[in-house]
Amino acid sequence: MSYALELKDLHKTFGKTPIIRGANLAVKAGERVAVIGPNGAGKSTLFNLISGRLQPTSGDVLLNGERINGLAPYEINRKGLSRSFQITNIFPKLSVFENLRCGVLWSLGYRYTFLRFLSRLDDANERAELLMRQVGLERKRDVLAVNLTYAEQRALEIGITIGGGADVILLDEPTAGMSKTETAHFIDLIREVTVGKTLLTVEHDMGVVFGLADKIAVVVYGEVIAYDTPEAVRANARVQEAYLGSPVADAQGGGH
Ligand SMILES: Nc1ncnc2c1ncn2[C@@H]1O[C@H](COP(=O)(O)OP(=O)(O)O)[C@@H](O)[C@H]1O
Ligand SMILES: [Mg+2]
Repeated sequence: MSYALELKDLHKTFGKTPIIRGANLAVKAGERVAVIGPNGAGKSTLFNLISGRLQPTSGDVLLNGERINGLAPYEINRKGLSRSFQITNIFPKLSVFENLRCGVLWSLGYRYTFLRFLSRLDDANERAELLMRQVGLERKRDVLAVNLTYAEQRALEIGITIGGGADVILLDEPTAGMSKTETAHFIDLIREVTVGKTLLTVEHDMGVVFGLADKIAVVVYGEVIAYDTPEAVRANARVQEAYLGSPVADAQGGGH
């Protein structure tokens, strides 16, 4: 069995404090995974370990069967894993189109010599145009990123994140700070632009979680205590216990 992403007995200790305490996960290619869990459970730390921003204390991270822990974030990105870094991905003084083209070119630049790179400029322009339509920003083509609304900046960021062609995408709380309406729209966008890709997204809104995810990974105290379909996770006694009095119990109705 081959998986797009695997975590094997992953541990991470900060100072003397164990934060990730033996996390295991095996995500099949093309699955959409919502990562849920209480604040401080270690969700962002897991993403940092997967994307190479942090090195595990022990254990392994496998991308398409290949061990990637120990590699630099850009090397992991080249291997097909892309992670959104909130606003820091965006160049505020570049237009929407230029931002998207930069993202595409940046990824091409590593794969091609300069001359071939130049011959690829047309491809990059086309790809940036396509991304711009996909994330619904074609009418903002020449607007500087700094002048976009918050939701538009998030959409631009998704465009940049998928622009390099990665097939495994990590999004850490992509809808944070958005209104209900913006969130619903944004989740549709995420669903569309990640078709055929493997997606892991940290999300708190249970309505969104149950609407978007094929699988839910429940992270509690540095471990993945459940990884299953939304229905199975909802019925899982261990999850119920960990979440007693919190959203999973009444997740069906969505949101809080
Ligand atoms: N670089 C760090 N150094 C020390 N402690 C950290 C660091 N990053 C995260 N932590 C701690 O690890 C725990 C898990 O954090 P985090 O992964 O951000 O949780 P989550 O994203 O699930 O809310 C928290 O107690 C946090 O304070
Ligand atoms: Mg977090």
